[in-house]
Amino acid sequence: MEGPPEPMNTQDARQVSRDRSSPVRTMRAAVLTGAGRVRVDRVPVPEPKTGEVRVRLEGCGVCASNLGPWAGPDWMRFPTRPGDLGHEGWGVVDAVGEGVGTLKPGDRVATLFYDSYAEYDVGPESLAVKLPSGLDGKAFPGEPLGCAINVMRRSDIRPGQTVAIVGAGFLGLLLIQLARQAGARVIAVSRRGFARDMARRNGAEMALPLDDEGSALRAVERLTAGRLCERVFEVTGKQVGLDLAASLAAVRGRLIVAGYHQDARQVDMQQWNWRGIDVINAHERDPAIYVRGMAEAIDAVLAGGLRPEPLFTHRFPLERLGEALDATRDRPDGFLKALVTM
Ligand SMILES: NC(=O)c1ccc[n+]([C@@H]2O[C@H](COP(=O)([O-])OP(=O)(O)OC[C@H]3O[C@@H](n4cnc5c(N)ncnc54)[C@H](OP(=O)(O)O)[C@@H]3O)[C@@H](O)[C@H]2O)c1
Ligand SMILES: [Zn+2]
Repeated sequence: MEGPPEPMNTQDARQVSRDRSSPVRTMRAAVLTGAGRVRVDRVPVPEPKTGEVRVRLEGCGVCASNLGPWAGPDWMRFPTRPGDLGHEGWGVVDAVGEGVGTLKPGDRVATLFYDSYAEYDVGPESLAVKLPSGLDGKAFPGEPLGCAINVMRRSDIRPGQTVAIVGAGFLGLLLIQLARQAGARVIAVSRRGFARDMARRNGAEMALPLDDEGSALRAVERLTAGRLCERVFEVTGKQVGLDLAASLAAVRGRLIVAGYHQDARQVDMQQWNWRGIDVINAHERDPAIYVRGMAEAIDAVLAGGLRPEPLFTHRFPLERLGEALDATRDRPDGFLKALVTM
């Protein structure tokens, strides 16, 4: 079996996309072969087309949205494309296609490419955001950090407001940091004791268990003299989280649904209607908005308002992507977010 590709200097790298006569180089890429099964294959290194850049990835975040495919539902087709499902990559540009204007080999970037469980991935220049030197050596899965910024933008939090965050997972904890930074008083609600500890460490004044809906609601009523919360974020993607989040919203409050709800849900329309709450489904579809969020996340991390590093609790080499996905699903004690490194 061949070894990994030799590291290239910038001069070599620049020539890769133009020198078609050079022998095909290969890279390691993860391929899902069935429910809960993954292997690492050797496949050709992709070539950047017009307007695209190729990135030698340093790592890629493991996203909760991978868990659907990992469970192997009927609609899933195996084997997957090499690298498929990895969309939280970061690394160094090593080749550029024709017409690429702003990025050049050697630039360190966060990417919104889609085959990033691999040593290299390619994508449009417009979906790569340059990382400043202040982030050298640091992991930067741009997509989820950009999502936190984008969710926050739709919340309209004002200083002094009481904000409840239901679900202190990776996104919930980032939102706790940002809401605190915006001057809100933050109450977190989450299932695991570890998540609640992390919520307190990241700025929540109080962290309540999600297992008993009645007790969390009563505690918030006591804390707010019955007024409840001007802003509530639902960040679990589960019916139980949605129910509790809605019950915590004050009259004329705002419920920001950040969780993905792919299954059918029921809502208490009578309660929503009586309280006159604003309900925001805080998801984006336009890649340009994701990229804007990623760029703003870079600024927020540099300014210290967003602190993702302590939330990267688990790192796995690409060969152990299966363990990373299992941990993302099983959420063992001490787990928050997995990164795979190449
Ligand atoms: N709006 C966006 O742009 C955006 C971006 C990324 C993700 N999302 C969505 O936001 C949600 C959270 O994402 P994430 O990245 O933070 O995921 P995550 O780190 O896996 O966190 C999952 C959260 O859901 C809670 N949870 C999981 N299963 C639960 C259950 N059965 N009952 C109660 N709580 C449960 C977890 O609580 P414990 O940790 O306490 O167990 C944790 O707070 C997901 O629905 C995800 O798809 C939205
Ligand atoms: Zn993601």
